[in-house]
Amino acid sequence: MSPSVARVQTTFRAIDVIRKKRDGGELSRDEIESVIDAYTRGDIPDYQVSAWLMAVVLRGMTRAETAILTDAMLHSGEVLDLSFLPAKKVDKHSTGGVGDKTSLVLAPLVAAAGLAVPMISGRGLGHTGGTLDKLESIPGFNVNLQVAQFRSVLETCGCAMIGQTAEIAPADRKLYALRDVTGTVESPYLICASIMSKKLAEGIDALVLDVKTGSGAFMKSEEDAAFLAGLMVETGERMGKKVVALITDMDQPLGNMIGNSLEVVEVLEVLRGEGPEDLRQLCLELSGWMLHLGGVSGTVAEGKQQSERLISSGKALDRFRQMVELQGGDPKVIDDAKRLPQAGHTATIPSTKDGYITSVQCEQVGTACVILGGGRERKEDSVDPAVGIVLHKKVGDRVSGGEPLATIHYNQESKAARARQLIERSFQFAATPSDNRPFDHAGPGLRVFDQSPCDSPEDRSLGPGSAIRVRGVCVEN
Ligand code: URA
Repeated sequence: MSPSVARVQTTFRAIDVIRKKRDGGELSRDEIESVIDAYTRGDIPDYQVSAWLMAVVLRGMTRAETAILTDAMLHSGEVLDLSFLPAKKVDKHSTGGVGDKTSLVLAPLVAAAGLAVPMISGRGLGHTGGTLDKLESIPGFNVNLQVAQFRSVLETCGCAMIGQTAEIAPADRKLYALRDVTGTVESPYLICASIMSKKLAEGIDALVLDVKTGSGAFMKSEEDAAFLAGLMVETGERMGKKVVALITDMDQPLGNMIGNSLEVVEVLEVLRGEGPEDLRQLCLELSGWMLHLGGVSGTVAEGKQQSERLISSGKALDRFRQMVELQGGDPKVIDDAKRLPQAGHTATIPSTKDGYITSVQCEQVGTACVILGGGRERKEDSVDPAVGIVLHKKVGDRVSGGEPLATIHYNQESKAARARQLIERSFQFAATPSDNRPFDHAGPGLRVFDQSPCDSPEDRSLGPGSAIRVRGVCVEN
């Protein structure tokens, strides 16, 4: 019997740890490890862990507690040793958003540049979509590979995308599902531990974090996003990894399509060099950083150019096709997106006003997609891969009364009616176009990187009128 098992059986009482956190106390290593060990093994029930999670949301954690929690979750399972792969191992993780499908573009794109991308991802959480749910909309695609299969796919095509297995960060897998349905997602400490535990278990050399801010992000304010970015960068640094955090816009959905199979359609567009400009630009930005941290490009700008070449040559798309096939998916969807699940019905939402769109309340659009069946309202729910929303207008666009704002793809009338109301309410209009809100701070816990090898220290806003604003603030070690 391991020492931790002995400890849990003799001295640990979940109620004591819940009360201590509820009253604002700082938990010890023993207490945090006991909660994580016991929950991973199924020795304490969901209701006690839910109460503990809520206490953490309300009371917060110290940096030391956050590091211990991350470590405990990381070591709840296997930490992969990918040293058999000669390439540098690089990954990207987003804190979650609406229409955020960049992972599906980046894994094959970065692999096509010669790096290895061992990506362990999550499912939809709250109003946000999940990479695994999107991948599973590809008929046959298996996100539940065993570690040995994962290694083999990675070795063959340079990228593999799976969920947490029983072996890798199992504590996060259980906690993530529980947080999704208990209102305990929005805590920077829990998000940091969740993301960093599964990313560090991947055996990577470098990590690019896409920290979302805005109405569709868990971190609504830029200040909170910067705090989370700092927490994650610091946690990664402690573990000796190269970590960069970009704070990016989630004040409106990313790209035009929201919903699992619809998002795969948009991924294919980007991999063909098409697709909406905000999504394309963000993919290139993130890829530029991944290539740079992985050492295949001298600067981020060169990394972006290289990524563009890999897209225009078709190499990135070929790599996606190869990964889909190796993970059991139907590779024919790459050339024929109609093979993806299609909703039975569509309905267009026309504008009732003339003017310029000033905002698209992003969380409401995400929630509308969940209501349609594209996400989960309860832990045990399954998702409908075919449903979703296509936006025809975004912030800054001019619209006349009667013009379509969005199209809903749905399978059930009653759900479509509820979703429609939310989408209608999410659009705000004005008679004149409004200025894009600039990103103007580095935030607490972050140093603005101001020397090589990062080539772009300042505000990396892509300019007025661009639908995405990226600020490259980072810490490198
Ligand atoms: N993404 C994760 O992996 N975990 C979170 O807690 C939030 C977003």
